[in-house]
Amino acid sequence: MLVYLDGAVLPLAQARISPEDRAFLFADGIYEAVLARGGRLLFWDEHERRLRAGLAALQIDLPDPAALRGVAEELLRRNQPLGGDALIYLQVSRGAAPRLHAFPSPPVPPTVYMTARAWPGHPPVLVAGGATALTVADTRWARCDVKSTSLLANVLAQQQAKEAGAHEAIFVRDGIALEGSHSNLFAVRGGEVSTYPACNYILDGITRVAVLALAAAMGIPTRLGAIPLAELYAADEVFLTGTTTEVLPVVAVDGRRIGDGLPGPITGKLREAYLLQVDERARG
Ligand code: PDD
Repeated sequence: MLVYLDGAVLPLAQARISPEDRAFLFADGIYEAVLARGGRLLFWDEHERRLRAGLAALQIDLPDPAALRGVAEELLRRNQPLGGDALIYLQVSRGAAPRLHAFPSPPVPPTVYMTARAWPGHPPVLVAGGATALTVADTRWARCDVKSTSLLANVLAQQQAKEAGAHEAIFVRDGIALEGSHSNLFAVRGGEVSTYPACNYILDGITRVAVLALAAAMGIPTRLGAIPLAELYAADEVFLTGTTTEVLPVVAVDGRRIGDGLPGPITGKLREAYLLQVDERARG
């Protein structure tokens, strides 16, 4: 497997970073996960825009973020056989320097790491039957809009869900269901699709934005607003969105059945429309 590290494409076994890298010491970095189909990157511009916003938020000066697109395409080409679906993982850290909290002065070159791996997608049985979710207290920092590599709360939440036999954890802050450990959250009530507004308490997911636009285009009413936990339980349908999650129906939350306990019709329509858009983008 070939990976990219700081300007070179090389076998993973030969890739080395310093133990003083600030992503290792402080989680001082950001990342993106980008889907590719048939060797074509999907929603690249949106990912690059979010990456640039993250770099600005962290005040990391990466000379040429646009060049990363070519790197991703090269990894897709050279890692045979990645002709089907593949996931690009891209991480930028502040670089390696002796451990002091403040930024290294003068600045050091950022560490840039990228992989491309075959992505199997969901087992069809999960999509057909729907996923389950477990709510957990949101103990994350108040800059969830930054796609930071500091994912400890997300890791612990996902593990808690897994141990409870659920597919995803849903973060709840002050009684409001916000998003998943690695996905955005939607609820459908009376034909209206709700999700939390983009702010510092959620990641403004690229799939989330695409699904909101598709819903609007299909004449499905949308609402950007809070989903209190009681309303989540009482929803007709619940679904999750994300680069790796696509549009995934949720049929139970905390062991309570959502709606009639089957993937809902609006979720199904949005999932179909989203997958169609992905296919269209992959064909160019
Ligand atoms: N996670 N919310 C969180 C906390 C996420 O980590 C993600 C994505 C999303 C969905 O964002 P998008 O539609 O842009 O993928 C929402 C990626 C896939 C990950 O951590 O692997």
